Amino acid sequence: MDETTTKPSPPAPPGSFSPPSPGAPGPPGRATVPEIVAAKGARRLVMVTATDEPSARWCDRAGVDLILVGDSLAMAVLGRKDTLSVTVSEMVHHTRAVVAGAARALVIADMPFGSYQASVEDAVRTACRLVAEGGAQAVKLEGPRPREVEAIAAAGVPVMAHLGLTPQSLHRLGGYRVQAREAGAALALLRQAKELERAGAFSLVLEAVPAEVGRAATAALAIPTIGIGAGPHCDGQVLVLADLLGLSDDPAPRFVRRYEALGQRMRDAVAAFAADVRSGAYPAAAECYPSPEGLADALARGGGGG
Ligand code: KIV
Repeated sequence: MDETTTKPSPPAPPGSFSPPSPGAPGPPGRATVPEIVAAKGARRLVMVTATDEPSARWCDRAGVDLILVGDSLAMAVLGRKDTLSVTVSEMVHHTRAVVAGAARALVIADMPFGSYQASVEDAVRTACRLVAEGGAQAVKLEGPRPREVEAIAAAGVPVMAHLGLTPQSLHRLGGYRVQAREAGAALALLRQAKELERAGAFSLVLEAVPAEVGRAATAALAIPTIGIGAGPHCDGQVLVLADLLGLSDDPAPRFVRRYEALGQRMRDAVAAFAADVRSGAYPAAAECYPSPEGLADALARGGGGG
């Protein structure tokens, strides 16, 4: 069931591009971590996921502040059933493509499952790979892991933390469920958030928690909170691009707002191409290269090796 049908603005015509309106996005030039932190209380931050060069380029042109190469790419673009099998090498591969397309937004790479849970050393090694090989400007990891955050930050890599629904803990959580629904769990989450901030996280993703928990965390922290299903009081919002654009067949969670139906538009465009090929309407004369001078005469004289 798709609960979300709101379409705030009509789609732009294909190929059209207008630069973001002045004042709407952040300062010109590549966004930096200190600018993202300073945005708290001054303007709302916009983050989307991207997985390749074109999607990063168009999101960047739309004026987003942050692009996350999320491990959700396992499900959104690799067709896997969850995020658990994505590897560091795959994350590096996608991060390089996103970095190639993002001229302005800060690019954050997700640390995949298994790449930081066993030791702090693993965590630092993975973070450094995502920066050195992938070109990311920051990394994100899931869960209350202040020791890992501290060590990665000490290595010079900015870290975004992630609490609430942490999909890498899918099996422990018993599914993709709303978190911090009881007061005790909400207070525990707030304590973890403070600890992550003290450890040096520069921002915090809050996923699938009640709006009041999003409000309390946002008020308690000096670093920006970025919500996904965490209500309107967070300092910024993030959506997975495939959800926002309508590329997924799966039922969307409650918090997803679809701004496009790109899957259907893609199907229609490809079906139109197929119909033109089958009817002979494609290619037309204007889509063909001109004949070499003298070829028609030469063929008429019997040239061409026949
Ligand atoms: O992997 C991802 O896309 C994420 C977002 C949901 C924040 O972690």
